Amino acid sequence: MLTTAEIFDVMRGDSMNDWVGGSDPEAVGDASAVIMRRLLPLHNGTSRVLDFGCGIGRGLVSLRKTGLEPSAIVGMDIMPPVIDFCNNYIRPNLNNTWFELINDKNDHYDRFISQSGGKGREKLALEYDNYFSDGYAFSVFTHVTKEDFGGLLKFISSMMIPGGRFLLTCFELNEFSRYMINKGQSIFPLDNHVMWEDGNILVGNESDPLGFIAFDRSLIEKMAWDAGMAITKVEYGCWMGGGIGSSLQDVMICTKLPELVAREEVKMTPLVDRTNMA
Ligand SMILES: C[S@@+](CC[C@H](N)C(=O)[O-])C[C@H]1O[C@@H](n2cnc3c(N)ncnc32)[C@H](O)[C@@H]1O
Repeated sequence: MLTTAEIFDVMRGDSMNDWVGGSDPEAVGDASAVIMRRLLPLHNGTSRVLDFGCGIGRGLVSLRKTGLEPSAIVGMDIMPPVIDFCNNYIRPNLNNTWFELINDKNDHYDRFISQSGGKGREKLALEYDNYFSDGYAFSVFTHVTKEDFGGLLKFISSMMIPGGRFLLTCFELNEFSRYMINKGQSIFPLDNHVMWEDGNILVGNESDPLGFIAFDRSLIEKMAWDAGMAITKVEYGCWMGGGIGSSLQDVMICTKLPELVAREEVKMTPLVDRTNMA
């Protein structure tokens, strides 16, 4: 059995850590875990958690390191070597944890996929229909096309329970981030950026559009809503400059629309009697 510290040591010695963003894997994973513990209602024993685009499992191992013992935690990714890594070093050492290879494509990561395999979105959607109570995707929606952004949200939403919360990181175009980018303040080198689709999409470099891609807020809201989810919280990241943000990328919570209750079952906040107030 490997401890979480030993799993991180294996990650440090593996070149795949660079495929998923580099830096010290434990520091990156721990930073993600802090955000998840703050923004997701995770519970020992009952939560069923999806790690979408899990890579080599940096966030997942750190999340378990915080003491979380969910009833299930499932990592999914399209790159066979990272899923092999997770099956070799994480699955045998962390209970209630398993991994799925998705048979899918991504122009930014296809160079690491030498042979196709795994399960398609439809098959996984059936197997995990309404299964996950919580989920997250770190640095995945920063590397997908508009079509995949919307399509993946629909796929993920189908696997979440009503009211389930899904945390994703992305780059949001809004008045402030556009202003900061245009004034050269973003902490990413975006001097060669180009705008697509009437200015609703920004790519950092057209030679590798999925290396850095940002979407207009209204577009993200529409894609989430079309997937049966609503954006219920946003924490902006420091990527746009100006010293704002507690993390690098923007963090969004997408909540799958909950089951509605009868009007008479809605718990109203009691009105305060103010007649005797000074
Ligand atoms: C920058 S890495 C981040 C990995 C991991 N979330 C982490 O924080 O260490 C992005 C990951 O998203 C995965 N990915 C890209 N497109 C995907 C898709 N369509 N479905 C699932 N995973 C995808 C990549 O294979 C890669 O492992």
